[in-house]
Amino acid sequence: MVKKVKRNSPCPCGSGLKYKKCCLDEGSLVDKRVKEIYAKNFNIRLKEKTDVKNIKRAGRLVIRTLDLVETRIRPGIITDEINTIVHDFTIKNAAIPAPLNYRGFPKSVCVSVNEVICHGIPGERVLEDGDIVNVDVTSIVNGYYADANKTYFVGTPSPEAEKIVRVARESLKLSLAMVKPGNTIGHIGWAIQQYAEGEGCSVVEEFTGHGIGFEFHEPPQVPHFGRKGEGITLVPGMVFTIEPMINLGKKELRILADNWTAVTRDGSLSAQFEQTVVVTNNGYESLTPYEL
Ligand code: MF3
Ligand code: CO
Ligand code: CO
Repeated sequence: MVKKVKRNSPCPCGSGLKYKKCCLDEGSLVDKRVKEIYAKNFNIRLKEKTDVKNIKRAGRLVIRTLDLVETRIRPGIITDEINTIVHDFTIKNAAIPAPLNYRGFPKSVCVSVNEVICHGIPGERVLEDGDIVNVDVTSIVNGYYADANKTYFVGTPSPEAEKIVRVARESLKLSLAMVKPGNTIGHIGWAIQQYAEGEGCSVVEEFTGHGIGFEFHEPPQVPHFGRKGEGITLVPGMVFTIEPMINLGKKELRILADNWTAVTRDGSLSAQFEQTVVVTNNGYESLTPYEL
């Protein structure tokens, strides 16, 4: 149960102001005093409306890129072909692929097949009928970042593949519904964990969603597990990703010798969906929207 915040009660952001004088204000996205508090206390840079417009522009390119990739996925292609498609399309649109050279990452997109949880490096792996493949695109447009991913079926999925993709997709959908002022970061993780574990799946703990916009990864971290009411209170102007990684088996992972590729320890399938969202006055808006 989430309590509705009354106009005259203290603002859930902790500013000490009345809600109507603070986060309820529909004129501007961000209250100046809240902005200072979030910067000082949490190192979180809240975004103005103009920032959000710019991130949304980057987000539109991310979605167009994912849509293009989707048309090209079929058994027989190698994952490096997906990298070429993403790289060329990004450059053609006067944008920068954020993964390339990010902390030494050697490619322009992450491509994660089957037991690969995330950060798969595109290469010579051939996509086979029945595989699942996650494609994670982050574009920089005019200095602003947006980040989204989807997991696709290659050819005809097995029942196991269908299940893990359904649970990962639904995990993101349910957690998005938690995003509104007054809820906390913990509401997001709670929604994911209770649903995914209820389906007999597990939630990866080592990688989280993250603030984004001015940089690739900004505070706060957004864990995909937790409890309602834990952590930082969501306020208008917060921009972050939610990107639950859900395993069909156990939650444990290991990192391959390339120092990037995260795989399930038990070899089970893993799936993920990601969107970038902004907290609005009464909920959220996806800046990388697609149907879930
Ligand atoms: N796009 C990933 C995320 O969702 C991060 C990839 S980092 C990279 O946060 F270096 F591997 F690209
Ligand atoms: Co991300
Ligand atoms: Co991503």
